[in-house]
Amino acid sequence: MSKVTEAQVIVALSHVIEPELHKDLVTLKMVKQIEIEDGQVNLTIMLTTPACPLKGKIEADVVGAVQTIAGVEKVTVHFDAHVPTDARLMGKMDIGVHNAVAVASGKGGVGKSTIATNLAISLALEGATVGLLDADIYGPNVPMMMGINERPKSQNNRIIPPEAHGVKLMSMGFLIGPNDPVIWRGPMIHSALRQFIQDVEWGELDYLIVDLPPGTGDASLSLAQSLSLTGAVIVTTPQQVALSDVVRGVSMFKQLQVPILGVVENMSYFVAPDTGQRYDIFGQGGGAKMAQEVGAVFMGEVPLEPQVRLGGDEGQPIVVRDPASAAAQAIRAIARQVAAAVSVQNIAADLPKFKQAPELKMV
Ligand SMILES: Nc1ncnc2c1ncn2[C@@H]1O[C@H](COP(=O)(O)OP(=O)(O)OP(=O)(O)O)[C@@H](O)[C@H]1O
Ligand SMILES: [Mg+2]
Repeated sequence: MSKVTEAQVIVALSHVIEPELHKDLVTLKMVKQIEIEDGQVNLTIMLTTPACPLKGKIEADVVGAVQTIAGVEKVTVHFDAHVPTDARLMGKMDIGVHNAVAVASGKGGVGKSTIATNLAISLALEGATVGLLDADIYGPNVPMMMGINERPKSQNNRIIPPEAHGVKLMSMGFLIGPNDPVIWRGPMIHSALRQFIQDVEWGELDYLIVDLPPGTGDASLSLAQSLSLTGAVIVTTPQQVALSDVVRGVSMFKQLQVPILGVVENMSYFVAPDTGQRYDIFGQGGGAKMAQEVGAVFMGEVPLEPQVRLGGDEGQPIVVRDPASAAAQAIRAIARQVAAAVSVQNIAADLPKFKQAPELKMV
């Protein structure tokens, strides 16, 4: 039997195309380790996010390609991940935050905080390091949704963010008492945010999810400006009045040169638990249509489920409270799309570099 060589495996892998980056795994330097023992090939593929939605396809394509080599009996694929950094964040945030993703809407009450919280936990469940920044100055309710009652501690003049469900959290709510009137002027918002970015011991974060206040008012504008954002996820509900606000939200981010990663439709439908009948309470298909109109990716529908609301009230977000529920599954899938969109964007910015990758010699 012919002996399988590393060069043969590399050539085989140079024909496996990363489905979102449209380049092969060798050019993208995603092949981390190759071990060959007789007919057994063990590979480690470096993904651009642990939350890669196409892990299964990549695995199948790798196995398929390597199995065509004569003498290969078994192929085992291991995955590791390295989330690329948004280069624009460097220098602006002198911390280990690699990507900052805002969750926003043009309108209040559509479920931004619910989506932001569950999105952050979903990314952590996939193996990413995640922080959550509740920048909602009007109603910072993320600590409650995360089940965090304690205030951050300080150590050596650094703020230590409390952690729950594998996510580190900082909230405007930590700075103000629950019944304090909230009157923020621009400079106050800026200095609070600067503190959140520079004085908080975030550590290395693959993703910092930022829950922005509702609307396109001054507050969210200055928040979006003082943070360097990798991208924004826009949350809407299906009805027309909410949708027209999406357009305003999208144009605000466009003006600020913050890319729109995608649009999420929340409270899309309700399935009656007793009959299984689906009700489109706020209409149907509006989010997808709106996303298309503004040229954004539609990332999915999250149903209206009483457990989502209870989870928020009781500090047990739906992705941990009831992982099998349709709402939890929808948010997990959305989180993987957000992670992929961030990686694709960062790598696309870096792609000219890959064009100079040396040609592989055929063996
Ligand atoms: N899919 C859902 N199913 C059931 N309840 C939901 C769902 N999404 C959000 N909710 C509930 O709706 C209410 C509003 O949600 P949330 O606070 O996340 O909205 P928001 O957009 O952040 O609001 P605000 O603009 O005030 O910040 C909360 O009580 C939340 O638990
Ligand atoms: Mg909110």
